[in-house]
Amino acid sequence: MKILTTIEELQEVRKEISSSVGFIPTMGALHDGHISLIKKARAENDIVIVSIFVNPTQFLPGEDLDKYPRRDEADKKICQMCKVDYLFMPKITTMYEKEEVLIKAPNRSYVLEGETRPGHFDGVLQVVLKLFNLVKPTNAYFGKKDAQQLSLIIQMVKNLFLDINIIACDIVRESDGLAMSSRNVYLTPEQRSEALKISKSLRKAGELVGKKQLNVETIKATMKEVMSGLDIEYIAVVNRNFEELTQVELSNTIILVVARFGNTRLLDNLWL
Ligand code: PAJ
Repeated sequence: MKILTTIEELQEVRKEISSSVGFIPTMGALHDGHISLIKKARAENDIVIVSIFVNPTQFLPGEDLDKYPRRDEADKKICQMCKVDYLFMPKITTMYEKEEVLIKAPNRSYVLEGETRPGHFDGVLQVVLKLFNLVKPTNAYFGKKDAQQLSLIIQMVKNLFLDINIIACDIVRESDGLAMSSRNVYLTPEQRSEALKISKSLRKAGELVGKKQLNVETIKATMKEVMSGLDIEYIAVVNRNFEELTQVELSNTIILVVARFGNTRLLDNLWL
């Protein structure tokens, strides 16, 4: 595995590759969720490129940019073990000059996650577009865990006519059901065990839908019961375009939950 830190190195390497390139953009502190994306890319492409870059433009003032977990050495080992060909780890000044946000995410980026974190998705799309332009991937891998991010990236690729396949990957969970996240390390043991109610509520919602209960209000009420005691920021039931639904549409619905544990926001979702 080769580690690249400058734009020139990456462009030089990219010029020499004529076969398929699988790309996994990350912010590091890699866990089994990231690893599942890397493994899928490894199986489906000749060359695999991972980026690790804690992107400042997607953090709002007061968010956890400074304390976002950094584990460069462990991450390098993980990438090596997963047979990544190139690991791109640029500095902030490598990725950004003094510049405005280049790309304005569409209006639907200002609902749900974007309502609590206005501008967050502008920063995400900005850095993902920069990375796409550098890496020029054949296939780029994203987790369904960040459902709204995934949806906006698919939209950007379509709107800007980018010749990249976006591959949506299933959510990887701890054995007890908690969705893996780099931010889980912020949880105290008590919060960690309370957080299980989130995935439990989604499983319950899945069961209800399995029993043909498609009414969104009923589903939300049951989920709230399962999550009693949690500081729920939102429960949303949307279609693939992130429009709120009143009735579940089979094969076109995502149920999303965000709950707060002190300053830590945990998000999880279920794709029906
Ligand atoms: P990060 O949070 O590091 O996530 C990188 C990728 O891993 C994303 O596509 C995310 O959805 C996926 N992922 C995270 N947890 C997962 C899990 N439990 N199961 C499956 N996939 C999971 O998302 C970002 O970084 C950034 O916003 C980024 C796209 C890199 C732009 O800065």
